[in-house]
Amino acid sequence: MSTIKGVWLAKVFNIEVDDRSVEVSPGNTVMDAANKLGIVVPHFCYHKKLSIAANCRMCLVQVEKAPKPLPACATPVSEGMKVWTKSEIATKAQNGVMEFLLINHPLDCPICDQGGECQLQDLAVGYGSASSRYSENKRVVAAKDLGPLVSAEEMSRCIHCTRCVRFGQEIAGVMELGMAGRGEHSQIISSVGSTVDSELSGNMIDVCPVGALTSKPFRYAARSWELTRLKSIGPHDSMGSNITVQVKHEKVVRVLPRTNEAINECWLSDRDRFSYEALNSDSRLSVPLLKKDGVWVESDWKTVLEIITSKFKHIIREFGGNSICFFGTPQATLEELYLQHKLCEELGSESVDFRLQREDFDIETSGIPWLGMRINQIEELDRVLIIGSNIRKEQPLLSAKFRRLSKLGGEICLVNPIDEDFLAPVLEKVIVRPSDMFKTLAMVHNSVMLSQGKVAHDEFQKLGRSKKSDIIAGSLLSGQRQAIFLGNLAEYHSHRSALLSVADMLSREIGATLGFLGGGANSVGGYAVRSAFPAGTLNTSQILGNKYAGCLMMHAEADLDFGNTPAALALLESAKFVVSMGAFDHDAARGYSDVILPIAPFSETGGTFINMEGYSQTFTGVVKPLGETRPAWKVLRVLGTLLGLQGFNFNSIDEVSREVSNSIGDIEQHLNNRAESRHYAIPNSDDSLFERIGEVPIYRSDPIVRRSEPLQKTKDGTVGCIGLNACEIKSLGLTDGDELAVRQGENEILLPIETDDAVPPKTVRLPGGVLETSALGPLSGRVRLLKNRKQSVGVR
Ligand code: SF4
Ligand code: SF4
Ligand code: FES
Repeated sequence: MSTIKGVWLAKVFNIEVDDRSVEVSPGNTVMDAANKLGIVVPHFCYHKKLSIAANCRMCLVQVEKAPKPLPACATPVSEGMKVWTKSEIATKAQNGVMEFLLINHPLDCPICDQGGECQLQDLAVGYGSASSRYSENKRVVAAKDLGPLVSAEEMSRCIHCTRCVRFGQEIAGVMELGMAGRGEHSQIISSVGSTVDSELSGNMIDVCPVGALTSKPFRYAARSWELTRLKSIGPHDSMGSNITVQVKHEKVVRVLPRTNEAINECWLSDRDRFSYEALNSDSRLSVPLLKKDGVWVESDWKTVLEIITSKFKHIIREFGGNSICFFGTPQATLEELYLQHKLCEELGSESVDFRLQREDFDIETSGIPWLGMRINQIEELDRVLIIGSNIRKEQPLLSAKFRRLSKLGGEICLVNPIDEDFLAPVLEKVIVRPSDMFKTLAMVHNSVMLSQGKVAHDEFQKLGRSKKSDIIAGSLLSGQRQAIFLGNLAEYHSHRSALLSVADMLSREIGATLGFLGGGANSVGGYAVRSAFPAGTLNTSQILGNKYAGCLMMHAEADLDFGNTPAALALLESAKFVVSMGAFDHDAARGYSDVILPIAPFSETGGTFINMEGYSQTFTGVVKPLGETRPAWKVLRVLGTLLGLQGFNFNSIDEVSREVSNSIGDIEQHLNNRAESRHYAIPNSDDSLFERIGEVPIYRSDPIVRRSEPLQKTKDGTVGCIGLNACEIKSLGLTDGDELAVRQGENEILLPIETDDAVPPKTVRLPGGVLETSALGPLSGRVRLLKNRKQSVGVR
């Protein structure tokens, strides 16, 4: 027995539902008890992940001694309670509610996108009557335009369950939809802007039990019973969200979340949900392309593979194997990255990397960088410091876990170069220029040391401490389960090593877990593959500093996927022979490549992704490769064989997977975020210059996302300006829309400016992954702003 507010409570209550006994914990509801017994109580507004609204009344049940039926979803259990869900009283109440619901419901089922997977349709079969007693006109609710992803064309179908509203409030962190009006004038309206802009908005479609909110890209594309449902893994962020890909006539027409309580629960980010539109886009490659006398012609696999083999053999003979470099991306599967590394090694080259956006490689972690814990342990933390992350846009679903952590009483502090709304309470945040992030963390370290009565670290002493550093240190030291996380803005930082060093020191001092938040679907897998080929593999920065005669690039687009685009393009332009392997045709690739090979995206090939918690998930292709497209692992296998290399004789993807798995061994043994050494290149702020924040926008993160039309039409898909805070714009004597030149090193671009109060003074947001800024240098570093330029100079 325990006591809450002086009331003695049993550890469990024994109750009966439909004459079956069950033990349930105090605080549970009758709905929970029924669920435990596998008894289905009809419901609409109840959702296991959302708060109780109890507004649809569909779950009315008979409870012993209660004078009238009670809603199962909102009735707490008590000792000895007896409940009947199918008694005459319960059924009569449920039928009555259904009759009321159907009074105003349109008879749309034959053309409704929800048809076949509609809770109302299903329950109406069991609880509705064959004819209606209502002969008056039905209520009509005007359509709403909620943006390119969520369709609210048929709001007369809404049954006012408020699941969509509660999802926004409780999971997405912002109440973008609300219920306005009363009685029959109630309706769902957008309550923030006119559209729904959350990066998790598609989940509103899933929680809507009827066809009021549906998927705009999927609208009228298929009936649910025509679809084949196949399992796969989200290919964009490193959550490893479990997805169901729905296919009609060998075409992916919808992607939905597949429940995995340990990873994505029942949710999915919009990026993983709507990116599939790119898989069917006109820019898909379907045949190998060959540049002949400067003109691109369609070719066949035999011809192009023979040409590649002969060119590579020639290059190796003339310049040696190390004159060929290889680039992959975190969107490539484990098997693809492994075979690319193997090809590189067997040819005698050391030049291969998938970390194309990173600039600072001075120090590494002692093992594979990862989250530092299981995804579902995030909400168990009580103190968190996040360094350099716009987490909502980097890892949309993970940010929902941090939101829950804060609801459970955890404290979150941030050290960031941009002031983005975390959509959760933040105890303290320090928003500073990128070059001041190290100093801020060193001050937090000082505060930690001094508040423990220890002496500050020699090299940090002169930096002192501040009120904010004391607050952050106090929070971290007061917890039991603390963690420090580094995000993408730290990962792409030109002084990543300094940030890693100080984060490592801080985490050791307070006993906190150190973790990495960023990365693509297979970032951890990419590191795992590198660990299987330990002999002197060069990193992207070293490779970009060299010259090569040949290059083989897989899934990457050189003008958008590199942090330092000018350096990447210079390398490719100076190479004698460049092979691009990708799923899409791309103007820039036609510029720098000699051969373009159509390879399968995740939906058309099998493979493995290792997510941020080090969990391996294997998936199979869900549709046949488009046209002459081939899975990259097969292309690499054939290339290896044609080049006369040993160990490329694989008959199936399973054989490759087995070899990869044997080479990597137990991945758990390799996960280690500790800095291998310390490197404090304390950068000096130079107030005469601005600093670049080269955040890669959520819908520009990889070739698939960039081609999803609905995602590009969202607010987050609209990028391409110079973001400056209002004070800087004023001091420059400019206004929004004026053009300004930005010079980074030798490169210069001219773009319109836009007020962006999320960036601190002397800082400029110039996104990466977009053509408008691709002529600039690395994602992080110093830039000059130049007024009164009519056109930019020095652009590559
Ligand atoms: Fe039919 Fe359900 Fe659509 Fe209503 S929401 S029209 S019941 S399929
Ligand atoms: Fe419920 Fe759908 Fe209406 Fe929202 S739109 S209140 S989820 S029925
Ligand atoms: Fe219980 Fe709606 S499900 S009132």
